[in-house]
Amino acid sequence: MSLTSEHLHAAAQQYGTPLYVYDATELDAALARIRAAFGTARVYYAMKANPNLTLLRRLHAQGVGFECVSPGELARAQHIGAAGERIIVNGPAKTPGEYALGARLGATFILDREDEVALLPPSSRALVRVNPALNISTHDHLATGAAHSKFGVTLEQAPRVLAALRAAGHTALGLHVHIGSAIRDARDFTAAFGRLTELRGQTGPLGVLDAGGGWGLGADLHGIAREAHATAATFGAQLWVEPGRYLVAQAGTLLTRVIGTKRTGRNFTLVDAGMTELLRPMLYGAQHPVTPLWHREGTGTWDLAGPACESGDLLARDVTLPAPQAGDLLAIGEAGAYGAAMSSNYLTRARPAEVLHENGTWTVIRRRETPQDIWQAEDAAG
Ligand code: LLP
Repeated sequence: MSLTSEHLHAAAQQYGTPLYVYDATELDAALARIRAAFGTARVYYAMKANPNLTLLRRLHAQGVGFECVSPGELARAQHIGAAGERIIVNGPAKTPGEYALGARLGATFILDREDEVALLPPSSRALVRVNPALNISTHDHLATGAAHSKFGVTLEQAPRVLAALRAAGHTALGLHVHIGSAIRDARDFTAAFGRLTELRGQTGPLGVLDAGGGWGLGADLHGIAREAHATAATFGAQLWVEPGRYLVAQAGTLLTRVIGTKRTGRNFTLVDAGMTELLRPMLYGAQHPVTPLWHREGTGTWDLAGPACESGDLLARDVTLPAPQAGDLLAIGEAGAYGAAMSSNYLTRARPAEVLHENGTWTVIRRRETPQDIWQAEDAAG
């Protein structure tokens, strides 16, 4: 990240905490890394990682498409002017509204089960999602290509679904595979692509192989890209990819201030952000880098606890901090993906502001919510 401690202090001072800050340089650098590794592959950003309109518009302007998995995400794609080949409609339980809007926008659908063939609007373009039924080296909640995952059709079903698509007058564009998220071991991808190639000769001609996303930070992108391209080549297909985390995680940082400390069974540093701002540590045991933005004598080991009335509301355990005091500022890194996106209004906590740093200036890309924002829909109903 190119933002300095001075930059971060200035942002926290100006916009308050908790605060999500994004670095445009880092966002562009991640896209450049993906394009360097994947070359001619078409990039569809999995907007679930961070659906902020400013980020979407920036990526749209750079030629990136979008993978949408809900009516709201599809509405965001439409709102920023994405259409046609730039939109993928995905999800295991799409609603009639998603098929209708997807068709209106000219999107490509990812089929997740056989009986979706009958639900597609006439003359749709579709890929069939295959579940390779493998053990994936990630948190169980983040594995989507395991035999017990709810996603996709089996290898055995896939040729039949492609044939059913063609018989129903749709374009059976190709195959899709996405085995999970935060996967650092490239061998998982190799194994999944290997299972797909078992289908060679049974699929009819395919235009596209969509290799999904799921690349953990620090994964061997070039290795994954090589395998993905080789697999697409076996089918004579074009490669598509759907990165979420890799594209936006490192561009984002959550800034939080120390409220106070206490020493009971453990040493706690209480901060003004927690599970409602960054759920990943609690939900997946995720470890985000924590950087104290102050200097003081008296280094100790602390658990970083949030303000929620929940014992699980911890952002990190056993972090080394130099004698924290109220008002000190902490940077929680790699928070650009699934951070703000999964923040909530639990406890009527207003979601943080989000600001983007570019060319030496900050822009507010989401204002801080107010309690009124949160109860507005209830008042309207009453
Ligand atoms: N494509 C499909 C079909 C997906 O389901 C996902 C993510 C992606 C692409 C992007 O995956 P990525 O490149 O971001 O790993 N909330 C979790 C992550 C859930 C990911 C769900 N699907 C987290 O905070 O780690």
